[in-house]
Amino acid sequence: MTTQVELKRGLKDVYLDRTTVSFIDGEMGKLLYRGYDIHDLAEKSTFEEVIYLLLNGKLPTRTELRGLESFMAANRAIPQQVLQVIDIVKTAHPMDVLRTAVSALSAFDSDVADNSPEAIKRKGIRLAGQAATAVAAHYRIRQGLRPVLPHETLGHASNFLYMMFGKEPTQDEAKLMDVDFVLHAEHSTNASAFAARVTASTLSDLHSAIVSGIGTLKGPLHGGAAEAVMSMAHDIGKPENAPTYLRNMLDHGGRVMGFGHRVYKTEDPRARHLRERARTLGQQRGHPEWFQILQAVESGMVPYQRRGIWVNVDFYAGAIYHLLNIPDDLFVPIFALGRVPGWAVQVLEQYENNQIIRPLLQYVGPMNLPYVPIEQRH
Ligand code: SDX
Repeated sequence: MTTQVELKRGLKDVYLDRTTVSFIDGEMGKLLYRGYDIHDLAEKSTFEEVIYLLLNGKLPTRTELRGLESFMAANRAIPQQVLQVIDIVKTAHPMDVLRTAVSALSAFDSDVADNSPEAIKRKGIRLAGQAATAVAAHYRIRQGLRPVLPHETLGHASNFLYMMFGKEPTQDEAKLMDVDFVLHAEHSTNASAFAARVTASTLSDLHSAIVSGIGTLKGPLHGGAAEAVMSMAHDIGKPENAPTYLRNMLDHGGRVMGFGHRVYKTEDPRARHLRERARTLGQQRGHPEWFQILQAVESGMVPYQRRGIWVNVDFYAGAIYHLLNIPDDLFVPIFALGRVPGWAVQVLEQYENNQIIRPLLQYVGPMNLPYVPIEQRH
């Protein structure tokens, strides 16, 4: 006789705890980081300022921001030994390389075992810089190129593109990358942040929690969607093919990547900031076709809006990265680069009032079976 329990599969609509980090209204399509609207932060802030805001709960003064920028600059490089590890695993998917690099970095971080708020903030900022260096280094190493050392004076987004391509990005390119990092920085208990919280709830360390986050973000139902959107766009080939492509996919119960969300039942507020930039960049680069294909998909998905299936943050991001000549398999790592401060602040908050996270599974298997010696098994 199975006792009646209320199952909450996928932990849908389950509140884990209280938070002051980010507010999401899925019906209204609203997102706040520490009380500030994502629309303001995307257009007026910078990734460095958002890192400070998330970790400290307030916008920095000019002096405080300069302090964070100098700390990042001084900690952006990664040890030679970690570059060697990246070289050893260079044929793996860039998300696996990033996960491995963060694990390796823990061996060189003197704060690794310190879970104090100050140490978490130092490690969170350090890893935000180092993760970008690792992704850029791998991008070059797997092509047989030497990694480019971090630029002394460039900011985070500019430095990432500089370390990838070996030349300073244009202001527009740097701004695009910076807005993308701001938009991906934090999103409450998404699957990867939840994984990071579970890891932190055992009082494990931040590097381990971020490795958990990276491994979780990789999945196509989460961060992997941006790469899948571009692969869908390649398959569609031309805007006029979109209706047939969608019908085939949806009639067979397929999922259109870049659409739908566990919380947003209207347009993901982050999407508009990437939609306009994907349009503009496509025109500037003489490749409007990607945006046109995505727009044809978005039009084809309009009937699904009444079921709460709208465009999400991942839908246009891939077109922007592609137009910036970033290879498709780096899309998820770039999402991870934006999310490092979000994972760090979720860990910080978990430690503040920790309770180990350990839900239940209802057992419905056989009970009290007699043990049969192997010679009697058939
Ligand atoms: C991110 O959680 C976060 O905050 C994540 C994120 C963040 O910032 O961290 O916002 C980033 O991960 C965005 C989501 C990126 N993933 C995708 O774009 C992949 C495609 N989306 C879906 O797989 C889906 O929408 C999820 C996984 C995002 C959400 O799934 P849910 O909430 O578990 O909803 P569900 O799978 O139960 O779907 C409900 C219904 C189903 O239909 P029925 O079985 O009830 O008939 O909606 C349908 C689904 O089939 N549906 C879709 C769909 N998404 C849901 N149908 C077609 N295409 C889709 N994309």
